[in-house]
Formats: sequence, C-alpha cells, structure tokens
Amino acid sequence: MTHVLMDLPFDENALEPVISRETLQYHYGKHHATYINNLNGLIEGTQYEELDLAQIVVTAEGGIFNNAAQVYNHNFYFKGMTSEATVPSKQLVDLLDRDFGSAEAFKETFLKTAAGLFGSGWVWLSVDGSGSLVLESFSNAGNPLLSGHTPLMTCDVWEHAYYIDYRNARPAYLEKWWELVNWDFVSQNLEFYSESRHGFIDPCNENSDLCDYVDSIEKVEHSNT
Ligand SMILES: [Fe+2]
Repeated sequence: MTHVLMDLPFDENALEPVISRETLQYHYGKHHATYINNLNGLIEGTQYEELDLAQIVVTAEGGIFNNAAQVYNHNFYFKGMTSEATVPSKQLVDLLDRDFGSAEAFKETFLKTAAGLFGSGWVWLSVDGSGSLVLESFSNAGNPLLSGHTPLMTCDVWEHAYYIDYRNARPAYLEKWWELVNWDFVSQNLEFYSESRHGFIDPCNENSDLCDYVDSIEKVEHSNT
C-alpha cells in the first residue's frame, strides 16, 4: 500500500494570521510530504507494506515507526484546524466538565502541558480504556495509539509548526492556535468512538474516496513556488 499526502482541508492562507501561508508551505508541503516519502521508501519490500497506517504505528519501531507516526499525527493535526467558527458538542462539553472540571480548565491544562513539553513532540486529548478523557504529551513522534487510547485532538509543538511565525515563543503560538481548533472534528471523533468503540479512522490513508488526494508530491512543491 502506498501512502499518500492528504489534501489540506483549507487554503494555504486560510489560517492567517495565526498560521501563515509560509509556515504551511514548509510544514505541510515539505515536512509532512517528506514523512510520506520516507515511509513509502522504508516499507518497500517489508511486512509493513501490507498494513494500513495505524497498524504500522502500533507495530513498527525505529525509522518506520517515526515516519508512520509523523504521517498519522500530521494528518490529525491538519484536519483538526479550521478558520471557521466551531464549538464542542454537548457530549464533549459534558465529558470535559466531568474529567477536567470545565472546558475552560481543560484549555488551561492543555496549553500549560503543551508549553511545558520539553523539546519536540505532541499533546493529545484521548479517550482511555475506561472511557475517561485523558491529556497526554509525547516526545518526538509519540502517539496515544501505543497505549491503546483513542485520539480526539492534537497539537504539534515541534518548532517547525511555529518558528516562522512566532520564533521561539511557543506559548504565543499555542494561545493563537486554540482559536483554530476544529471542534466539529474533535466532537466527531468522540461520537465515532462512542458509536463504534473504534474511534478515529484515517480516511486519507485508507485509500477511500472520502478524502481528496494530492496527485503527487511534485504538484505540492510546484504550488509552493
Ligand atoms: Fe509538524
């Protein structure tokens, strides 16, 4: 199975001024695209060639894990942002109240955790095995699938996500990034979890027609020039 670069669910300049076109050109067009290329090259001729992305994430190690998890994480991150105004579903608000005290307390904890993560990594809201919402931070390509959790939302705190726009000011990036959270996506992930107990399935890497595809990496790079 060849993994493909998802199409961005928004125009490259749609998230400005919070995230600039230039940041997306590098973050999506270069970093994300490179993880895809690396993954396809590394799995060629191996047992991982037959597995879907999530299966690779939970079974592989080393370079294959790193690149597969970075593809999964970036798919999740880009789909989790929007310039549209969205709000969490009642189901999500009720669980945030139950497990964090309030939606506002959740925001505070999420942003504090993301600001405090040492080095590069990811912060995730997930559902654990008992059905509770949990906040987790992982270094590098870390991912809640490894602990058997179902991911609902994530924020990328690698410097490549914010350095062009905010330099080293990660807390400023996080405060502004919060305005872009696609609560419809987060709420839908929770709804899928509740209904199927399977949670997020990545349509872009199941070769389904639910997701538009970019024809080639070259096309993305061309559009960035
Ligand atoms: Fe990233």
